[in-house]
Amino acid sequence: MSIKYTSITGFKDILPEAIYAWQYVEDICRKIFKSSGYREIRTPLIEKTELFKRSIGETTDIVEKEMYTFIDKNGESLTIRPEGTASVVRSYIENNIKMKEKIFKIFYMGPMFRHERPQKGRLRQFHQIGAEIFNVSAPSAETELLLIINSIFDNLNVTNLHLHINSVGCPSCRPEYSKELKKYLKSNINNLCDNCRRRSDTNPMRALDCKNEECRVILDKAPVISEYLCKECKTHLNNLQLYLKELNINYIYNQSLVRGLDYYTKTAFEIVSDEEGAQNAVVAGGRYDNLVEIFGGEPTPAVGFAIGVERLLRFAHIPEDTNASPELFVATIGREAYSVAIKLAMLLRTKGIYVETGYSDRSLKSQMRLADKLKAKYVLMIGEEELKNKSALLKNMSNSRQEIISIKTEDDFLNSLKGKIT
Ligand code: HAM
Repeated sequence: MSIKYTSITGFKDILPEAIYAWQYVEDICRKIFKSSGYREIRTPLIEKTELFKRSIGETTDIVEKEMYTFIDKNGESLTIRPEGTASVVRSYIENNIKMKEKIFKIFYMGPMFRHERPQKGRLRQFHQIGAEIFNVSAPSAETELLLIINSIFDNLNVTNLHLHINSVGCPSCRPEYSKELKKYLKSNINNLCDNCRRRSDTNPMRALDCKNEECRVILDKAPVISEYLCKECKTHLNNLQLYLKELNINYIYNQSLVRGLDYYTKTAFEIVSDEEGAQNAVVAGGRYDNLVEIFGGEPTPAVGFAIGVERLLRFAHIPEDTNASPELFVATIGREAYSVAIKLAMLLRTKGIYVETGYSDRSLKSQMRLADKLKAKYVLMIGEEELKNKSALLKNMSNSRQEIISIKTEDDFLNSLKGKIT
């Protein structure tokens, strides 16, 4: 009995019919990143578990429940990356980048892995396109990143998404707020869900993210961080808002926005759709001014974002692929004709022209059917007779007109295609 294999829950194939949209989005992002001075970085998919625990935070959902962690053959605990920022920070320090580059701007694209409950818009292997800037403490860095995201959206005709921003404070003002929030949560503990109860002890700010309706009633009245921000965090937030206003970037100042990762300081943002549910964030990011230092590097401010590609694709308008059909389809009869034809096909292919062949073991009729199905613009037929005369029959598929062309030399062949095949 043969076993039928299926992919793992939450892991999906991206089939060739979907790839054009993916590449279109990636190409747009690459262009915009390049013209803004961001270069690509590719870090390993697997890192030491400790890296993610220390950066994302021991008491976050990602670290507590969602990481693909395993012990490798050397007995070391490793994790398949749940996000990209921690690896980039590790690489920044390990490669001494600060010594070489005052401001480091990079982007990345690739799969991330989280063992979440799969549902609409939530996968276990999903893809992010992200960017990070190191060593700029001014809110002009956030502003540039938000403008880059807007430019990506404009190019993809993405509308109806809303930017929410908040400040989550810094180590000098957040502890005081956390203390007050903890006190408030404790005084309402009997009306909170189990998750919020636990979080009230371990990570009270994470409770603010709870979607439970009964908890929401209490959480909506909880102390807000804006009243506890230190002068530096307040000024940073105010200046960022001034930039956004001056540049006509619409935003909602959302004081209950907290992120699912602990490394953020000052700015946190999300770009969300109107759709109901927790899976509505298409882009998320923020500042993490202490992470480089936490990892043992010199204090270095940093900020970045990541777009969820699967989620972005639901809102993007991708134009039709105009290069999807072959310019030329070569149909042949017999082995000898195929050898001649494939040489001619490769001559055009090396010039970047899309050429298909019918492979010679099928009847001419079935090769023509295939050419039709692929919507080939021209068909080149070579049979015994043509082979003898060093010629071929060229058929224009849009008007069925046929002509005999010479294939005596490569130049003869190329000349007869002039003005027909681009
Ligand atoms: P994040 O909010 O965990 O942030 O993820 C960023 C985006 O990835 C989300 O807004 C969403 O679009 C997408 N995403 C996350 N989880 C899933 C999932 N299970 N299925 C589908 N899409 C998902 C980060 O990862 C930070 N590293 C962002 C960042 C970069 N902050 C600073 N720099």
